Amino acid sequence: MKRKLLGALLSTAMVASLAVGCGGNDNSTTPADTPAETEAPAADETPAADAEAPAADASAGGKKIGISMPTQSLERWNRDGAYLDEQFKAAGFETILTYSDDKTDQQVNDIQNMLADGVDMLVVAAIDGNALNTALAGAAEKNIPVISYDRLILNDAASYYVSFDNYTVGKLQGEYIVKALDLENAGDKTYNIEITAGDPADNNATYFYQGAIDAIQPYLDNGALNIVSGQKDFETVATAGWKTDTALARAQNVLSSYYADGTQLDAWLCSNDSTALGVTQAVTSDYAGSNKVVITGQDGDEANLKNIVDGTQTMTVYKNVSNESIVTLALAKAILAGETVDESLIPSFGIECTFDTESYETSAGNKCPSFLLVPSVITADNLQELVDTGLYTMDADGYLKAAN
Ligand code: BGC
Repeated sequence: MKRKLLGALLSTAMVASLAVGCGGNDNSTTPADTPAETEAPAADETPAADAEAPAADASAGGKKIGISMPTQSLERWNRDGAYLDEQFKAAGFETILTYSDDKTDQQVNDIQNMLADGVDMLVVAAIDGNALNTALAGAAEKNIPVISYDRLILNDAASYYVSFDNYTVGKLQGEYIVKALDLENAGDKTYNIEITAGDPADNNATYFYQGAIDAIQPYLDNGALNIVSGQKDFETVATAGWKTDTALARAQNVLSSYYADGTQLDAWLCSNDSTALGVTQAVTSDYAGSNKVVITGQDGDEANLKNIVDGTQTMTVYKNVSNESIVTLALAKAILAGETVDESLIPSFGIECTFDTESYETSAGNKCPSFLLVPSVITADNLQELVDTGLYTMDADGYLKAAN
């Protein structure tokens, strides 16, 4: 689907009014439908009278971007916030950057304050994809375009979605386990696995979960894999707020209830690094067996990369969030300049991604046009790839440190 935004003559406010939301009706983008069209400058107006129209690169100059991140308690969001802030500032934008301590009320407040502060666009990583209706209704009233960053906002307030291919993140985790345990050649052997998923309020969590489950399901079906606890449903294995302590407590519980008798645990599928941290801690301290347990993760947080070097976590799915911020900036500029937003923008990003108009749906069932970046697998064997991005350094002991 192609989504035409406005031509260069219309004001930013008008452009914003045309960024009608994920799955929004393209018909409403017809200039004839917009009352503001009457404000379009007459042909004989001087350039000065035309000052409000965006110039070629007026997407930047003087414009203010509100960047709303969920929390500083998880490493990745600090990096996202810092990169977005740097990228937008370097491109000539003013920015307001907030972290909302993983509290939805605070995020609503933060967004409302940004709107009161006169932002021209919002970039929002939602704590709860369902909880921003009031705040974003305020954005819609003011015709402020919203980019859903990393996590989909589930009402129709966002114009576009920038993220990684979240289903593939989970698929990579599941496929890794299949390979690591050589499940294709399991013969009569059964390997034991447990699962820890993410926060039900985060729309991404089910994509990660489903991608992973789809990869391991054939082996659950043929008996090569067995979930000893029987805990498989997303709701049962989910981790509210992606909290390390919550993942730790549940893992300890599972270990003492199902593995204390010496049952061997072979793998623990964790949807991300904060949950993997808790599970790794539980396995290290509470698992009676001496075999190496395959533990997955996602993000490349420093503490987890250390565990990968030490051998207590096996892999992480890495998502280069510096690239995510570069794509977000390019998209923001295109929206503010009234350019057509579709796959034709991708070459200008200089970053591998896809334009996906099918995979992500709002609560109303509308498809959200999405730019999805490509995740990759990091293990102890290819940590150098992270160093090569320039975003990590490696110390003499082989441990990695994020550059900011
Ligand atoms: C992000 C992950 C992150 C998780 C917890 C998800 O929405 O995509 O990268 O690990 O939230 O913060």
